[in-house]
Amino acid sequence: MHFSTPSRCLLSCLLFGATTLASRNNDTVSTCEALSSILPTEIFYPDTDTYNASISSYPFIQLRLHPTCIVRPKTAQDVSAAVNLLRDTGCTKFAVKGGGHNANVGFNNIEDGVTIDMQSMNEVEVVEATEVARVGAGALWQNVYDAVEPHNLTVLGGRIGVVGVAGFTTGGGVSFFSPSRGWACDAVVNFELVLADGTIANANATSNADLYAALKGGQNNFGIITRFDLQAFPLEGPIWGGRIAFNSSAEADLVSAFTEFKSSAYDPHAAGWVTWRYNVTTNQTTPTSILWYTKPEQKPGALKPIVETKPQLMNGMTTGTPREFAKNASMVVKTSNLNTIWATTTFKISPRICHRIHLAWKTAIPSLLSAHASSNPASELTFQSIPPPPRNDSSPNSLGFSATDTPEKDLVFLQIVFYYNTDASASKAFNAGLKDFIKMFDDIAEDEGVSSGWVYLNFAARFQDPLGSYGREQLGKLKRVARKYDPRGLFQKQLVGGFKVSAAEAL
Ligand SMILES: Cc1cc2nc3c(=O)[nH]c(=O)nc-3n(C[C@H](O)[C@H](O)[C@H](O)COP(=O)(O)OP(=O)(O)OC[C@H]3O[C@@H](n4cnc5c(N)ncnc54)[C@H](O)[C@@H]3O)c2cc1C
Ligand SMILES: *[C@@H]1O[C@H](CO)[C@@H](O)[C@H](O)[C@H]1NC(C)=O
Ligand SMILES: *[C@@H]1O[C@H](CO)[C@@H](O)[C@H](O)[C@H]1NC(C)=O
Ligand SMILES: *[C@@H]1O[C@H](CO)[C@@H](O)[C@H](O)[C@H]1NC(C)=O
Ligand SMILES: *[C@@H]1O[C@H](CO)[C@@H](O)[C@H](O)[C@H]1NC(C)=O
Ligand SMILES: *[C@@H]1O[C@H](CO)[C@@H](O)[C@H](O)[C@H]1NC(C)=O
Ligand SMILES: *[C@@H]1O[C@H](CO)[C@@H](O)[C@H](O)[C@H]1NC(C)=O
Ligand SMILES: *[C@@H]1O[C@H](CO)[C@@H](O)[C@H](O)[C@H]1NC(C)=O
Ligand SMILES: *[C@@H]1O[C@H](CO)[C@@H](O)[C@H](O)[C@H]1NC(C)=O
Ligand SMILES: *[C@@H]1O[C@H](CO)[C@@H](O)[C@H](O)[C@H]1NC(C)=O
Repeated sequence: MHFSTPSRCLLSCLLFGATTLASRNNDTVSTCEALSSILPTEIFYPDTDTYNASISSYPFIQLRLHPTCIVRPKTAQDVSAAVNLLRDTGCTKFAVKGGGHNANVGFNNIEDGVTIDMQSMNEVEVVEATEVARVGAGALWQNVYDAVEPHNLTVLGGRIGVVGVAGFTTGGGVSFFSPSRGWACDAVVNFELVLADGTIANANATSNADLYAALKGGQNNFGIITRFDLQAFPLEGPIWGGRIAFNSSAEADLVSAFTEFKSSAYDPHAAGWVTWRYNVTTNQTTPTSILWYTKPEQKPGALKPIVETKPQLMNGMTTGTPREFAKNASMVVKTSNLNTIWATTTFKISPRICHRIHLAWKTAIPSLLSAHASSNPASELTFQSIPPPPRNDSSPNSLGFSATDTPEKDLVFLQIVFYYNTDASASKAFNAGLKDFIKMFDDIAEDEGVSSGWVYLNFAARFQDPLGSYGREQLGKLKRVARKYDPRGLFQKQLVGGFKVSAAEAL
C-alpha cells in the first residue's frame, strides 16, 4: 500500500531532514506557537502545572515522554482546528492520548512533537429514550459507569475504571458482560471523529459504514475520535465477582482449573482471568483469579473449578455493580513508578497447552529476573477468553472473526507482563524477553497443534502485528478505508504511535 505524500510536507521534511535536530525542534516550537494563537487556552508548555499533570497522568513511568507542547482540546471543533494546523504545518509529529493506558512507548505521547491529550473531553450524557451514552473521547470508564448506573444502565466497558474509553474501544475491548454481549466496540452505535481534512464526521451503520467497521479494531488509523455513542443496556442488579489469591502450592491446580473451565460447556455469564505473578525478591509465585459472574443467582456456573481451587489465602468474591468493581480495582492499580511492558498471543484450548506454556514461563522467568534483581522486577502470565463476534452481519467489526466463528469457546489469549524499576539493562533484557517468550509460546502452540495467529491489539507489544493478524481480507479493507478517508496518510505518518495499517502485513 502506498500513501501519496503532500508535496509541501515532503519539501519541508527534506529540508528539515537535511539540517540539524535543533532546527527540527524549532519547527515544532513554531507549530506550538501557531497552535497557541488559535487555541490560546488549550496549549500547555513544560514546567506548568497543567503540563506536569498531563505527564503524570500516564500510569506507567516509561510513557512519561516530554512533548514540546500539549494540546488539551475541549470540543470537536478544537480537535479539528488542531488537526488542520498540524497538517498544514507539514511535518510536526503528534500523538493522541485517550486514557493513556497502552503500555507501548510513543503510542500515546511523543518526546519532540505535540501531544493531543483528550482528557478534558470526558463528559458523558445519557439519552434515556434510546439508552445511549454519549461519551467524550477523553473519558475514562469510571466516568461512564458513574453516569449510567444512576439510570440503572450499564455498558460494555473496562473492568478497571482508570482505563480510557478511546484506546480500549478502538482496539476491541473485553468487558464484564462480553461473554454474552461481545466486544465493547460492537456496542458503539456512532463514532464522531475528526478526519484528516479537518471535517467533523459521524461513522455509523447508515453513514460512512466502512469507516464505522474500520474504527472497531483499527485504533487511530482513520481519524481522531471525539465522541463515542455507546448502546447501554439495563443493569438488572449487582453482579458477583472479585479476586482470589491462592497459595503458591496451588500453582499447577489453577492451570488445570482454567483448562477445565475453558474446555467445558460455554457459559455466557463467566468472565475474568487467571494470573501467575513471580516476584524475584521473594522467589515466590502468587496465583490469583479475577472473575465475575453476571447472573449471580446461578453462580459460580462454569467458574466452579477455579473458585474451588485450594488452598486460598484470600477470597474477595462479593456482589457489587460494575461501577463499584471498576472503582475498587482502580485503587489497586494506582499510577506507579514502575515500568510496565506487555505482549500477547492467542491459541486454541487443549488439555495440555496451558500447562506447557505455564511451565515454560515458570522455568525461564527466575533466572531472567534474577539477572536484573536490582530493578525489583516481577512478571505475570495471564490467561483469558476472547468474546464472541457479532452474530450477524448487521454491524461487523474489523477484528477478523466471522459471524460463525466461536473464539469465545475455542480461543485463549495470554498476556505476559514485566514490571521493574527504571534500569537500562533491565529494560533491554525484559523487552527482548517479551519477544523470546512470545516466540516460545507460539512454538509450543504449534507443536501442540493449537496455533491461532490472532493477536489482541490492546495487549500487543509494538513488535507484534495485530492488524495483520485480522487476516488478508480485513487488512485489505482497513487499508482501503484509510486511503479513502486520509489519502495523504496524515494518520499514517504524522500521527505517530499506534499500529499502522500502512505497516501491517497479513499472515
Ligand atoms: C490496568 C489495565 C486494565 C485493563 N483492562 C482491560 C480490560 O478489562 N479489557 C480490555 O480489553 N483491555 C484492558 N486493558 C487494555 C486496554 O484496553 C489498552 O491498554 C487500551 O489501549 C487503553 O486505552 P486508553 O485510552 O487508556 O489508551 P491510550 O494509551 O490513551 O490509547 C491507546 C491508543 O489509542 C489511540 N487513541 C487514543 N485516543 C484516541 C482518539 N480519541 N482517537 C483515535 N485514537 C485514539 C492512541 O493514539 C493510542 O495509540 C487494560 C489495561 C490496563 C493498563
Ligand atoms: C532555532 O533557530 C534559530 C534561528 O531562528 C537558531 O539560531 C537556533 O540554532 C535553532 N535551534 C534552537 C534549538 O534554537
Ligand atoms: C514540573 O515538573 C518538573 C519536572 O518534574 C519540575 O521541575 C517543575 O518544578 C514542575 N513545575 C511545576 C509548575 O509544577
Ligand atoms: C433503579 O432501580 C432501583 C431498584 O430497582 C429503583 O429503586 C430506582 O427507582 C431505579 N432508578 C431509575 C432511575 O430507574
Ligand atoms: C449517522 O450519521 C448521520 C450523518 O452524520 C447522522 O445524521 C445520524 O444521526 C447518525 N446515526 C446515529 C445512530 O448516530
Ligand atoms: C502453601 O505453599 C507453600 C509453598 O508452596 C507450602 O509450603 C505450604 O504448605 C502451603 N500451604 C498450605 C496451607 O497448603
Ligand atoms: C526459588 O525457589 C525455588 C523453588 O520454588 C528453588 O528451587 C530456587 O532455588 C529458589 N531460588 C532462589 C534464588 O532462592
Ligand atoms: C469495594 O470496596 C469497599 C471498601 O473496601 C467494599 O466495602 C466493597 O465491598 C467493595 N465492592 C466491590 C464490588 O468490590
Ligand atoms: C516484590 O516483593 C517485595 C517484597 O514483598 C516487594 O517489596 C516488591 O514491591 C515486590 N515487587 C514487585 C515488582 O511487585
Ligand atoms: C443482528 O443482531 C442485532 C443485535 O443482536 C439485532 O438487533 C439485529 O436485528 C440483527 N440483525 C439481523 C439482520 O439479524
